[in-house]
Amino acid sequence: MRATRPLHTPPTKVAILGAGRGGTALLDLLHQIPAIDIVGISDRDPRAPGLQRARDLHIPVVDQIDDLLQNHHTQLVLDVTGDPTMDQRLRREVRSGVDVLSGSASRVVWELVQHESALQAELLHAEKLAGIGSFAAGIAHDINNPLQLILGLAENLAEETDLHTVHEQAREIIDAVKRTTAICRDLTSYARRSAAHQQSLVDVNTKLDDALKIARYAVAFQDIEVVKLYAPDATIPGNPDELLHVFVNLITNAVQAMERGGTLTLRTMIQETVVSVQVSDTGCGIPPDLFNEIFEPFFTTKPPGKGTGLGLYNIKHVIHQMHGTIAVTSDVGVGSTFTIALPRTTPV
Ligand SMILES: Nc1ncnc2c1ncn2[C@@H]1O[C@H](COP(=O)(O)OP(=O)(O)O)[C@@H](O)[C@H]1O
Ligand SMILES: [Mg+2]
Repeated sequence: MRATRPLHTPPTKVAILGAGRGGTALLDLLHQIPAIDIVGISDRDPRAPGLQRARDLHIPVVDQIDDLLQNHHTQLVLDVTGDPTMDQRLRREVRSGVDVLSGSASRVVWELVQHESALQAELLHAEKLAGIGSFAAGIAHDINNPLQLILGLAENLAEETDLHTVHEQAREIIDAVKRTTAICRDLTSYARRSAAHQQSLVDVNTKLDDALKIARYAVAFQDIEVVKLYAPDATIPGNPDELLHVFVNLITNAVQAMERGGTLTLRTMIQETVVSVQVSDTGCGIPPDLFNEIFEPFFTTKPPGKGTGLGLYNIKHVIHQMHGTIAVTSDVGVGSTFTIALPRTTPV
């Protein structure tokens, strides 16, 4: 199933005038809303940033503003050009029955959009930090082991007179310190705020491996067998930090669903236009009537401290921003599979 709501009314057809910061922010938000259909965007400046973004999203870029105003599908014109003469022109040229939002009204819409996107970023970060709270036990364990080793070696060194042994133990101490540093590095890179719209070619298999390492701090992998079925060279363009977050969440959910142990299967598949990532478990499963609800904010069946109910909600948001899809299949008592499909190339 797709995590989208059924449509009850036909979408409102919106034309956007202006592809500067305001127009781009509007595009980013409105194109995600099923109840809104963007018929096109226009800007006097052919290099305006929103025009490229529109092409990426398969939204028509219209050279002449007139063409957009005359488009007989348009129901609402959003003017974010910031051009004071535009208001009068719109009054003259817009067909009757078409609503126009311009001047301070469209400014308010733009402020709301900015506010929403800032909130979304905060939510993503807050949920990640809430998750990191549960890492404490795992981290303490993993750092304590090398620390104990360092202590033992240092105690020996204090009495050791053989130079060869001193060198050898010093090297062991260095290795142990490097291991603890690696743990800290993994975690600080996970905890940092991900840069918005940061894009690069992401190696999906490596990201899944990184996520597995981090998820081990979040949940105990007791009696869990991990099976990896990776297609070689599975790469996609995307935001690496956000993808890592998505995978950590899916793996954590899968392991939490297998309280009495089981098999966690991570699979990547390269298809014609997408790379698919499947995270499967042999856990408690999800009743079909909850398939939609689990993607809602704050829906959780876990006790406080174990779940925030924001994981899947954030995942859905990140995946949609990357123009991908997420689907779930599940059998109660048998297990669940979450499948993410991400475009292999940035849409042009
Ligand atoms: N792999 C899974 N197996 C069973 N139930 C799951 C699985 N993944 C998610 N769920 C259900 O969906 C709910 C919401 O998940 P999520 O949004 O990640 O929030 P949280 O994990 O904080 O509860 C979970 O509480 C759980 O009931
Ligand atoms: Mg979760």
